[in-house]
This record gives sequence, structure tokens and C-alpha cells, in this order.
Amino acid sequence: MKEPILVGVVGCGYWGPNLVRNFKGLPNCHLRAMCDVSEARLKHMSSLYSDVEGMTDFDHMLNGVGLDAVVVAAPVKHHYSLAKASLLSGKHTLIEKPMASSSAQCEELIEIAERNGVVLMVGHTFLYSAPVRKIVEIVQAGDIGEIRYINSRRLNLGLFQKDINVAWDLAPHDISIILQVLGEFPRVVNCQGNAHVTPGIEDVTNISLTFGHKRFATIQSSWLEPRKIREMTIVGTRRMIVYDDLETNEKIRIYDVRVDRPAHYDTFADFHYSYHYGDIYIPYIKQEEPLRAECQHFLDCIEKGARPLTGGNEGLELVKILEAASASLKGHGAPVTLSRSPGRPGLESRSIRPNSLALT
Ligand SMILES: NC(=O)c1ccc[n+]([C@@H]2O[C@H](COP(=O)([O-])OP(=O)(O)OC[C@H]3O[C@@H](n4cnc5c(N)ncnc54)[C@H](O)[C@@H]3O)[C@@H](O)[C@H]2O)c1
Repeated sequence: MKEPILVGVVGCGYWGPNLVRNFKGLPNCHLRAMCDVSEARLKHMSSLYSDVEGMTDFDHMLNGVGLDAVVVAAPVKHHYSLAKASLLSGKHTLIEKPMASSSAQCEELIEIAERNGVVLMVGHTFLYSAPVRKIVEIVQAGDIGEIRYINSRRLNLGLFQKDINVAWDLAPHDISIILQVLGEFPRVVNCQGNAHVTPGIEDVTNISLTFGHKRFATIQSSWLEPRKIREMTIVGTRRMIVYDDLETNEKIRIYDVRVDRPAHYDTFADFHYSYHYGDIYIPYIKQEEPLRAECQHFLDCIEKGARPLTGGNEGLELVKILEAASASLKGHGAPVTLSRSPGRPGLESRSIRPNSLALT
């Protein structure tokens, strides 16, 4: 029988407990340690998981309990230092999104992971969700034609963060989905926004990403909305997809609608747009927790020595886009051109990745 992978989670605030619960429930691992600087959080977690050792000292977690893998779920400003220490001590490391606070930090973490031969994965959770995997499958099959544009809205009241703005907090989900669906890295990023509540920390942002072949995507992120909205529209030349993540069972609807311009016409009277209204199709999607699939994928990559679907390079890609968005924000929405990243395959333009991971 294989030895279980020994895992520790650092950061047990809002999101960490979800990681703890999932690693606790997976068969090929043993959750050995939970770490948080807050005694109160540890006390709460220990009341739920009395058999998992709780500690405030991260060094002790790294060096004192014999872990194979560390999961970083602390605030973003701590990702780099915690992940760096974890990778340097030879631990496979899963970092919550976004990977770090700058692309330079991401590049350093990638380099350390490669040098030490350990798995580095980033928690782009939505890429492990069944609806997003279904959307990628539909797009790859060519069912909706060429994608014209994508529009995404992730809005709600709070949770206000103190160390990052709403773009760094919420847009990573949309960006990771859009890159996966389009299979391409954007050329230009624009971002506008405003800080209404906490000075200097934008709580409403609008990002637009420009890709090749006139394709673009818009991402609206807000902590200042009365209603919770999680909606993405993917407009193709043949069909359109609406993905509403708040729907319980019918998260994806494929609309067989399109509009065409006549190729030739002689007089203005001959000119008519051709509107096509067809059926709406709702594919069956098996319910499963995306975070469980993400955690399982991390363990599988450790076991097989495989490269994760959302590894360091994908984390770096995303942080580069967020950095460009921050630069554009400072310039009141001015376009920021993304440059090629030498030596890092897949950053400038990549084909759609195969959707064949064995996720359970
Ligand atoms: N994948 C997702 O869908 C998703 C969802 C929410 C949050 N997140 C990510 O999870 C991470 C944590 O977010 P959160 O909302 O849980 O934050 P949080 O502030 O609620 O919790 C962070 C916890 O980390 C602890 N902490 C801070 N510094 C520490 C340190 N140096 N060592 C140990 N513990 C430390 C804090 O005491 C706190 O309990 C962030 O990176 C966030 O972006 C991901």
C-alpha cells in the first residue's frame, strides 16, 4: 500500500478551512498540521479537527512534523514568503490565487520549485469546476463557432480585503477561465476603477483584455453591489453560452442564436441582418465540489510527478495580467501592452490545453 501524502495548511481564516475539510476527506493523503498566527482561529479549527495538530509557528510546521506538502491559504501579501520557505524546504506547494504579489516573485517561486524538483500548483479553483470544464469542452469541439467576445461579472457586497483591490481578489477567477477558454494570452490590458470605501483600495474595477483576431473580454468586479452575481457570457459566431454559477442545476445554457450580415447587397433596401433564433440547450453537469477536484489534482501531481493544470506558469500569467491592470488603473484606464516572456513557453500564445486530466 502507498504511503499517504502528509499535508499541512497554513492560513485558516475564511478559505483555509475549506482546504482543510477537503484534504481531510481525500483518501490518498493525511492532513497532519494546520497553522495560523491567530490563536482564536486555531482553537476553532482544533474544535472541529481534534486529531490534526494546530500550530502558530510556520517554521515548526515546515521542519518539525515531517510534511510532504504545504497549502498556502494566508492573505496574498504573505504568499511569496510562505511559499518560498515551503519550496526551499523541499515541500510540494499549493498556493491560493493569486500566486503572489508580483510577477518577479512568481518567477522566483517557479525557479525554486524547478530546482528542488517539487510540485508547484496555484489554486485557480474554477478550472477544476465541472461547468467550466464543460464550457472548454464545448468550445474546443467548435460547437459555438469562433469566439467573438466574453463578458464576465463577479459582483457582491464585500468581502472587503485590506491588502489587495477587488481586481486582485475576484478577477483571477474570471481571467483564469477566459485564458482557458480562449487558449490565448492577451496583448493589451485596460482597467478602470475606483476606491469608494477604503482609500487606495479599489472596490469596483472594469478590466478589458484584448486578444488576437479582434477578440476581447471584459471583466467587471465589485465588492459594492446589492446582489451577488456570477455570470459569464461567451459569444460565438454560431452559438452563445451563458454560465451562471449561482444556478443550482442549470449553470450553463447554450443559446442557438446568431446574427449574420448579408455578404452582398445591391441597394440599402436589400440589406437585412439575418437573425437566427434556435433552441436553448442545458447540458447535464454532474455536481461536484471544484475545490475537492483541485486538492485531488494536487495529490495526483505529487504522486505521478506531473505538471499541474494550474502550475507556476499559469499563476505567473495571471499575475502579469493583474499587474498590467494595476498599471492601467494608475493611468486612468490607459492601455498596457503585455510583452512576450522569454523562455517561458505558453505565455504569448498557446494552443488550448488538452482537457483530458483525470479529475475525480
Ligand atoms: N480559490 C478560491 O476560490 C478562494 C476563495 C477565497 C479566498 N481565496 C484565497 O485564499 C487566501 C486566504 O483568503 P481568506 O479570505 O481566507 O483570508 P482571511 O484573511 O480570511 O484568512 C487568512 C488567515 O491567514 C492567517 N495568517 C495571516 N498571516 C499568516 C502567517 N504569516 N502565517 C500563518 N497564518 C497567517 C490569518 O490569521 C487568517 O486566519 C487568499 O489568497 C485568497 O485570495 C481563494
